[in-house]
Amino acid sequence: MISNLNKSSLKEAINLAFLECRTKTLALFEGMDRQTFCCQPHPDFSPVGWHLGHIAYTESLWLLERSAGLPCLFPQYRQLFAADGLPKVKRVQLPDLEEIRYYLDTVRVKVLDSLKVADVEPNERLWRFLIQHESQHCEIISMVLELAKVPQSNNKLLRADRASQASPDHLEEMIQIPGGEFEQGNNSIDALDNESPAYKVYLDTYWIDRYPVTCRQYRAFIEAGGYQDDRWWSKAGWNWLQTEQVKQPLYWHDDPTWGNHPVCGVSWYEAEAYSRFVGKRLPTEAEWEKAASQNVEAKTVIENYNCDRLVGKTTTVDAYPGGQSAYGLYDTLGNVWEWTASWFAGYQGFQSYPYIGYSQVYFDQKHRVLKGGSWATRPWVLRPSFRNWYYPSVRQVFTGFRCVADHKIDS
Ligand code: AVJ
Ligand code: FE
Repeated sequence: MISNLNKSSLKEAINLAFLECRTKTLALFEGMDRQTFCCQPHPDFSPVGWHLGHIAYTESLWLLERSAGLPCLFPQYRQLFAADGLPKVKRVQLPDLEEIRYYLDTVRVKVLDSLKVADVEPNERLWRFLIQHESQHCEIISMVLELAKVPQSNNKLLRADRASQASPDHLEEMIQIPGGEFEQGNNSIDALDNESPAYKVYLDTYWIDRYPVTCRQYRAFIEAGGYQDDRWWSKAGWNWLQTEQVKQPLYWHDDPTWGNHPVCGVSWYEAEAYSRFVGKRLPTEAEWEKAASQNVEAKTVIENYNCDRLVGKTTTVDAYPGGQSAYGLYDTLGNVWEWTASWFAGYQGFQSYPYIGYSQVYFDQKHRVLKGGSWATRPWVLRPSFRNWYYPSVRQVFTGFRCVADHKIDS
């Protein structure tokens, strides 16, 4: 979200974005105890302290070593904090917060020095990449902190006295998206490698939920025995369910005051099963992205979205009318990520940047695309073309979904 600028104001804008991004990153760690810093509440995700060190490592690698040609500042951290250095379970033995902050600060002083003297244009894309890299690790930090709070057994049966009531009518609305061409992807300098080249896609008319699926709506699926009924599940989904034995979303509040919040913490399989239960399906990435198009004149004012931890949790799905997409969809950006039906793959003419391990190694027909960002997503990665990806079994991300249909479905 840094627009076109002349040379010196571009430097200033990047300098400011680096500072802003870092301030909020560090705020997450204020007053944190060592146990929280080092613990690993789920084996698939590294401790929050590791992410902090990895942010410094990545900034140093790309901006100091690869761009400015400086020697590695802290070679002793390479193995620990490189993405491919150690298995996740070995990332729990960490230096103190103070020591990692010293690492971050030392790297950052040199980085901002190099910004003063170097020509920023040739590396503009890299600078923008690094803000988005830190932003994404920040969200994972938020996620690991939430995971640590999930009660060990959050699989209790639903409380009968909290049986589902009818969903408010407007939250059931679907919107017709007229058939036609639209441009998917993003060729701007901010775009990450997997967003470009942008290309034209033709889509037939379809209908899409105006809001993400709410907890109240999803509760009807649970109460109808959805988790016990193989009719709604794909083969892979049913197999997954037999192993995992889950009975409700991971970040579930069995409380009617959360009824109009979006479902949060579901696997792709659960999203798929619910969609079938209501006679709909998950949107393809193209369907999602077209429906999420923003009005050209609309500014991405982050106050229009539940993002950047400004609220610190999900909000009701109708809370941000100012953030409606050009077609009137709510919450496309912020609140919860949304699963799509699409595999994560490169667009025609894809070129990896800055390294093949960023996106390309995940073009393996095993990861599904998520769109739109969550309440913890930083503004630098909040746009309709942004692509996130996870295995369909993952439910630790702040993820919900909305459904589509080829014809209008009355609920
Ligand atoms: C896009 C969130 C799946 O966490 O692996 C961070 C982002 N890539 N450092 C991830 C990423 C390299 C990526 N996700
Ligand atoms: Fe990383």
